[in-house]
Amino acid sequence: PASDPDLVERARAAKEKLGGNLFVLGHHYQRDEVIQFADVTGDSFKLAREAAARPEAPYIVFCGVHFMAESADILTAAHQQVILPDLAAGCSMADMAAIEQVEEAWEVLQDAGVADVTVPVSYMNSSADIKGFTGRHGGTICTSSNAKRALEWAFAKGEKVLFLPDQHLGRNTAVLQLGMSLDDCVVYDPHKPAGGLTADQLRAARMILWRGHCSVHGRFTLECVKDVRERIPDVTVLVHPECRHEVVTNADLVGSTEYIIKTVDAAPAGSAWAVGTELNLVKRLAKRHPDKTIVFLDRTVCFCSTMNRIDLPHLVWALESLVDGRVVNRIQVDEDTAHWARVALDQMLALPG
Ligand code: 13P
Ligand code: SF4
Repeated sequence: PASDPDLVERARAAKEKLGGNLFVLGHHYQRDEVIQFADVTGDSFKLAREAAARPEAPYIVFCGVHFMAESADILTAAHQQVILPDLAAGCSMADMAAIEQVEEAWEVLQDAGVADVTVPVSYMNSSADIKGFTGRHGGTICTSSNAKRALEWAFAKGEKVLFLPDQHLGRNTAVLQLGMSLDDCVVYDPHKPAGGLTADQLRAARMILWRGHCSVHGRFTLECVKDVRERIPDVTVLVHPECRHEVVTNADLVGSTEYIIKTVDAAPAGSAWAVGTELNLVKRLAKRHPDKTIVFLDRTVCFCSTMNRIDLPHLVWALESLVDGRVVNRIQVDEDTAHWARVALDQMLALPG
């Protein structure tokens, strides 16, 4: 549905009043009604880099989810305040790794005698606590656009990787980009004693994958891929690496949201694409390229419900509050966690390439 014109005008007017004091970041999965007000759009990696791009702006409004706003708070200057228009915009994947569970897993690795040779690599989609844990233990953060480089860096440093919290990104990167076998990977289940693994299994593994996944990308199945290939025989299947391993191995291309956008933008007129990522993004791509066939990989609707919580009424409320001199929904990470999380984030930003 089209955005409410009154709210559009109020958001525009508030942005104009705030001028250079405001910097709005928007993730590619945000609604159209919100993304139109972003000063910068991007995937998680680009937004982490861009967060620090306006050091003079005291207010940073993050249209994305909680862990992204936390990272922005960690990476920006102390005088800058990061605002998440709806505090309920979390991420079910990030919630699958609680710090207590991860600390316990590290003890399990210690008991098995492998913690000293294990490097934690944590996906951006994790809480600031998990990023802090990663920094404290000499690891790095990664995103879907630099997971390969992060793993190469980690394996140059240690023998094993503890990959948090997305098992699919970890497995897909290790197997499809680093040439490991599925047998090199084990899955640590935080709901089972000792992760459901024996000490021998931990000693033999190279990739210790946390049992987490994205509920949005996890919905695409091998049947979706087969079904779309039958319906559109010359289709190119393009998916995000958060999808299951069998989906990624049966797709034609795989990459982060930024990669997906660039690939479809550069494709010739008349080409056909089935895209396996969040629906707001796929719909925008289809609208932007009426000369190409762009379909959603699944037949059902599949928005990220927490990304969608940032809507125009919440954005207008956050912006108008700032105009009135009130900061609402500030996201602030405590100093010690922020210090160690910054160590891990800086390590990611320093990865070669
Ligand atoms: P990227 O932005 O790194 O492609 O990640 C997708 C995602 O799930 C963000 O929540
Ligand atoms: Fe989290 Fe998946 Fe939504 Fe990204 S798309 S915010 S990983 S639930």
